[in-house]
Amino acid sequence: MMVKLVNILIVIIATLSINSTDTYESIEANKALTEFYTSGYLIKYYDIKAFQILDNKCNVCHRRRNKRRIFTIENMNTYANDIYKQVFVKKRMPRGEKIKLSPNEYQELSIWISSTKNK
Ligand code: HEC
Repeated sequence: MMVKLVNILIVIIATLSINSTDTYESIEANKALTEFYTSGYLIKYYDIKAFQILDNKCNVCHRRRNKRRIFTIENMNTYANDIYKQVFVKKRMPRGEKIKLSPNEYQELSIWISSTKNK
Protein backbone atom coordinates (compact mmCIF):
# COMPACT_ATOMS: atom_id res chain seq x y z
CA MET A 1 0.00 0.00 0.00
CA MET A 2 2.78 2.39 1.05
CA VAL A 3 4.86 1.37 -1.97
CA LYS A 4 1.88 1.99 -4.23
CA LEU A 5 1.38 5.46 -2.78
CA VAL A 6 5.04 6.30 -3.17
CA ASN A 7 4.86 5.17 -6.81
CA ILE A 8 1.88 7.34 -7.54
CA LEU A 9 3.54 10.31 -5.87
CA ILE A 10 6.75 9.83 -7.83
CA VAL A 11 4.88 9.71 -11.11
CA ILE A 12 2.82 12.79 -10.28
CA ILE A 13 5.79 14.83 -9.14
CA ALA A 14 7.89 13.75 -12.09
CA THR A 15 5.12 14.38 -14.61
CA LEU A 16 4.45 17.81 -13.14
CA SER A 17 8.07 18.80 -13.24
CA ILE A 18 8.46 17.56 -16.81
CA ASN A 19 5.37 19.45 -17.94
CA SER A 20 5.97 22.67 -16.09
CA THR A 21 9.63 23.49 -16.49
CA ASP A 22 10.10 23.37 -20.27
CA THR A 23 8.42 23.50 -23.62
CA TYR A 24 7.60 20.26 -25.37
CA GLU A 25 10.38 20.71 -27.95
CA SER A 26 13.14 21.19 -25.46
CA ILE A 27 11.89 18.18 -23.52
CA GLU A 28 12.06 16.13 -26.71
CA ALA A 29 15.68 17.20 -27.05
CA ASN A 30 16.59 16.66 -23.43
CA LYS A 31 14.34 13.89 -22.25
CA ALA A 32 16.93 11.14 -22.37
CA LEU A 33 18.93 13.22 -19.92
CA THR A 34 16.08 14.07 -17.60
CA GLU A 35 16.44 12.37 -14.26
CA PHE A 36 15.13 12.75 -10.77
CA TYR A 37 16.32 11.68 -7.39
CA THR A 38 13.28 10.80 -5.34
CA SER A 39 13.57 9.08 -1.98
CA GLY A 40 16.90 7.56 -2.91
CA TYR A 41 15.93 6.38 -6.38
CA LEU A 42 17.40 7.70 -9.58
CA ILE A 43 14.47 7.89 -11.96
CA LYS A 44 14.86 8.70 -15.61
CA TYR A 45 12.29 10.04 -18.02
CA TYR A 46 11.91 6.69 -19.76
CA ASP A 47 11.47 4.88 -16.44
CA ILE A 48 8.40 7.03 -15.86
CA LYS A 49 7.07 6.52 -19.38
CA ALA A 50 7.63 2.78 -19.06
CA PHE A 51 6.06 2.63 -15.62
CA GLN A 52 2.94 4.41 -16.88
CA ILE A 53 2.61 1.83 -19.66
CA LEU A 54 3.27 -1.11 -17.33
CA ASP A 55 0.72 0.22 -14.86
CA ASN A 56 -2.00 0.98 -17.44
CA LYS A 57 -1.55 -1.94 -19.80
CA CYS A 58 -0.11 -4.72 -17.63
CA ASN A 59 -0.85 -4.17 -13.95
CA VAL A 60 -4.54 -3.65 -14.72
CA CYS A 61 -4.73 -7.34 -15.53
CA HIS A 62 -1.89 -8.71 -13.37
CA ARG A 63 -3.52 -7.25 -10.27
CA ARG A 64 -6.30 -9.79 -10.75
CA ARG A 65 -4.67 -12.60 -12.70
CA ASN A 66 -0.94 -12.59 -11.96
CA LYS A 67 -0.49 -11.04 -8.52
CA ARG A 68 3.11 -12.23 -8.30
CA ARG A 69 4.11 -9.83 -11.08
CA ILE A 70 2.84 -6.38 -10.30
CA PHE A 71 5.28 -3.86 -11.70
CA THR A 72 6.44 -0.93 -9.57
CA ILE A 73 9.01 1.83 -10.08
CA GLU A 74 11.24 -0.09 -7.68
CA ASN A 75 10.99 -3.59 -9.16
CA MET A 76 10.44 -2.95 -12.87
CA ASN A 77 14.11 -2.91 -13.88
CA THR A 78 14.61 -6.40 -12.49
CA TYR A 79 11.79 -7.58 -14.81
CA ALA A 80 13.08 -5.78 -17.92
CA ASN A 81 14.43 -8.96 -19.48
CA ASP A 82 11.26 -10.98 -18.80
CA ILE A 83 9.18 -8.14 -20.20
CA TYR A 84 11.38 -8.00 -23.29
CA LYS A 85 10.85 -11.72 -23.88
CA GLN A 86 7.09 -11.69 -23.32
CA VAL A 87 6.33 -8.49 -25.24
CA PHE A 88 8.88 -8.41 -28.07
CA VAL A 89 10.10 -11.97 -28.62
CA LYS A 90 7.23 -14.34 -27.76
CA LYS A 91 4.57 -11.62 -28.15
CA ARG A 92 2.46 -13.24 -25.41
CA MET A 93 1.88 -9.97 -23.52
CA PRO A 94 -0.24 -7.93 -23.22
CA ARG A 95 -2.47 -10.96 -23.17
CA GLY A 96 -5.89 -11.14 -24.77
CA GLU A 97 -7.61 -9.02 -27.38
CA LYS A 98 -8.74 -6.06 -25.30
CA ILE A 99 -5.46 -4.49 -24.25
CA LYS A 100 -3.06 -3.46 -27.01
CA LEU A 101 0.12 -1.42 -27.05
CA SER A 102 0.39 1.47 -29.50
CA PRO A 103 3.51 1.72 -31.72
CA ASN A 104 4.61 4.60 -29.50
CA GLU A 105 4.24 2.47 -26.37
CA TYR A 106 6.29 -0.33 -27.93
CA GLN A 107 8.98 2.20 -28.70
CA GLU A 108 8.99 3.68 -25.21
CA LEU A 109 9.18 0.24 -23.60
CA SER A 110 12.00 -0.69 -25.93
CA ILE A 111 14.01 2.45 -25.09
CA TRP A 112 13.52 1.79 -21.38
CA ILE A 113 14.61 -1.87 -21.74
CA SER A 114 17.77 -0.84 -23.59
CA SER A 115 18.53 1.75 -20.92
CA THR A 116 18.41 -0.92 -18.19
CA LYS A 117 21.15 -2.83 -19.99
CA ASN A 118 23.62 0.03 -19.78
CA LYS A 119 23.56 0.22 -16.02
C1 HEC B 1 -5.43 -9.55 -19.74
C2 HEC B 1 -4.42 -9.99 -18.83
C3 HEC B 1 -2.97 -9.63 -18.98
C4 HEC B 1 -2.42 -8.50 -19.53
C5 HEC B 1 -3.09 -7.30 -20.14
C6 HEC B 1 -0.97 -8.65 -19.37
N1 HEC B 1 -0.66 -9.82 -18.76
FE1 HEC B 1 1.19 -10.53 -18.37
N2 HEC B 1 0.39 -12.24 -17.60
C7 HEC B 1 -0.96 -12.52 -17.49
C8 HEC B 1 -1.13 -13.82 -16.87
C9 HEC B 1 -2.46 -14.47 -16.55
C10 HEC B 1 0.16 -14.34 -16.63
C11 HEC B 1 0.57 -15.67 -15.98
C12 HEC B 1 0.34 -16.85 -16.90
C13 HEC B 1 1.15 -16.76 -18.16
O1 HEC B 1 2.38 -16.58 -18.10
O2 HEC B 1 0.55 -16.83 -19.22
C14 HEC B 1 1.09 -13.32 -17.12
C15 HEC B 1 2.47 -13.46 -17.08
C16 HEC B 1 3.37 -12.48 -17.42
C17 HEC B 1 4.81 -12.60 -17.33
C18 HEC B 1 5.57 -13.84 -16.86
C19 HEC B 1 5.59 -14.86 -17.97
C20 HEC B 1 6.64 -15.95 -17.78
O3 HEC B 1 6.34 -17.08 -18.15
O4 HEC B 1 7.74 -15.63 -17.31
C21 HEC B 1 5.34 -11.42 -17.75
C22 HEC B 1 6.82 -11.04 -17.80
C23 HEC B 1 4.25 -10.58 -18.15
N3 HEC B 1 3.07 -11.24 -17.94
C24 HEC B 1 4.39 -9.30 -18.64
C25 HEC B 1 3.33 -8.53 -19.07
C26 HEC B 1 3.50 -7.19 -19.62
C27 HEC B 1 4.83 -6.48 -19.76
C28 HEC B 1 2.27 -6.75 -19.94
C29 HEC B 1 1.90 -5.41 -20.51
C30 HEC B 1 2.59 -4.94 -21.66
C31 HEC B 1 1.32 -7.80 -19.60
N4 HEC B 1 2.01 -8.84 -19.06
C32 HEC B 1 -0.05 -7.70 -19.79
C33 HEC B 1 -1.98 -11.71 -17.87
C34 HEC B 1 -1.85 -10.47 -18.50
